[in-house]
Amino acid sequence: MPGVHDLLPAGSTTDADAMTLVAGCRLDDVAAEVGTPVLVVSEDALRARAREYADGLTARWPRSRVVFASKAFPCTAVQRVMVEEGLGLDVAGGGEIVTALRAGVDPARVVLHGNAKDDEEIAMAVEHGLGLVVVDGADDLDRLEAALPAGATQDVLVRVIPGVEADTHASVLTGHAGSKFGLSPERARELIARIERSPSLRMRGVHAHVGSQIMQVEPFAESVAAIAALGQFPVYDLGGGLGARYTWADRPPSVATYLDALVGAARAHLPAEAELIIEPGRSMVAAAACTVYRVVTVKREARTFVAVDGGMGDNLEVALFEQRFEAGMLGRLDAPGEDCDLVGRHCESGDVLVPGVPLADPRVGDLVVVPATGAYCFTMSNNYNGSRRIPVVFASGGDWRTVVRRETWDDLLARDV
Ligand SMILES: Cc1ncc(COP(=O)(O)O)c(C=O)c1O
Repeated sequence: MPGVHDLLPAGSTTDADAMTLVAGCRLDDVAAEVGTPVLVVSEDALRARAREYADGLTARWPRSRVVFASKAFPCTAVQRVMVEEGLGLDVAGGGEIVTALRAGVDPARVVLHGNAKDDEEIAMAVEHGLGLVVVDGADDLDRLEAALPAGATQDVLVRVIPGVEADTHASVLTGHAGSKFGLSPERARELIARIERSPSLRMRGVHAHVGSQIMQVEPFAESVAAIAALGQFPVYDLGGGLGARYTWADRPPSVATYLDALVGAARAHLPAEAELIIEPGRSMVAAAACTVYRVVTVKREARTFVAVDGGMGDNLEVALFEQRFEAGMLGRLDAPGEDCDLVGRHCESGDVLVPGVPLADPRVGDLVVVPATGAYCFTMSNNYNGSRRIPVVFASGGDWRTVVRRETWDDLLARDV
């Protein structure tokens, strides 16, 4: 029988008290000290995944690099792990530039994205010498040319819509005609011609990103073929998008299967001497974390509602993308249970963490764990109903430490003028 345990970070165990340990740390101990909700990341699983990606890509295509899509977990500590593991960083916006620099990244290994980069962000890219700016339209070129000091140059990629429609939620689909990201191949050709005439911009290559939470490898391979038609360049950035496992029904391709398909398509369509870049986000971090909540109330009405002390303030994936998660009671994770709706504490009917989930004897004060919350949950955490954004704890080799503290009531008041 598959269980919640299978969805926890790799290396998680259960001790003689039936208590769950992530990277050797008991989740009830962490909750007792840091409070709940808390996002617990297995630093060991995170590092292992980063190495799996980096080694896997280099083995298949030596002239290549993996850049972590910071947007999936835009936190200095996570970016620092990626940098320490030798990865570059993809950033989408000024805030992610700030945390990336704090994480100690070599600016030359940063790739800047965004469909609406403003003057300040372009100025930051130029000032800090970011390695690649992915241009999303002519306005990016105007801004770059205006920001670059006389004699300076900037390497750029052009983001192209590959015209590939993957089977995923509409909100995370980006490779289809009609996407707000990137340019049609015709427009991209015009922009490439303009860059090639520019004295300050260096045309390095093209970029495509099909979307997120993609469970088949074919769309990735199709997108390589589509961008190859734009011509030969020194660099091809193939984006991110590989799906992650949230429930036992999910069967995302392994990193190896994904890389085989991607590099297979690159061998078939791209110049052998080109550099390949990939930008995994979700599949890098989702499975490395879980969130621990405490039950606030149990109400048996039309449904059994188990309400916890978090919800859409710390996990918007459910409300935005209808992402299905699983959950279990800590200490009896995979025991048979009552059919419940695990709901949040926010004043929204849509604030449901996991509908229709079996929970074993849920009682007020008990701890609940929701696995696979490493991707985009921290990203979209918010102060709905004045909730304080939750802390992030790194667990590694039996020790744990807080890397982002919980917000305080004072933090909520700090911006008042
Ligand atoms: C340009 C770009 N690269 C990489 C990613 C990472 O995608 P994922 O988290 O699905 O791997 C995204 C996110 O959608 C993106 O927009």
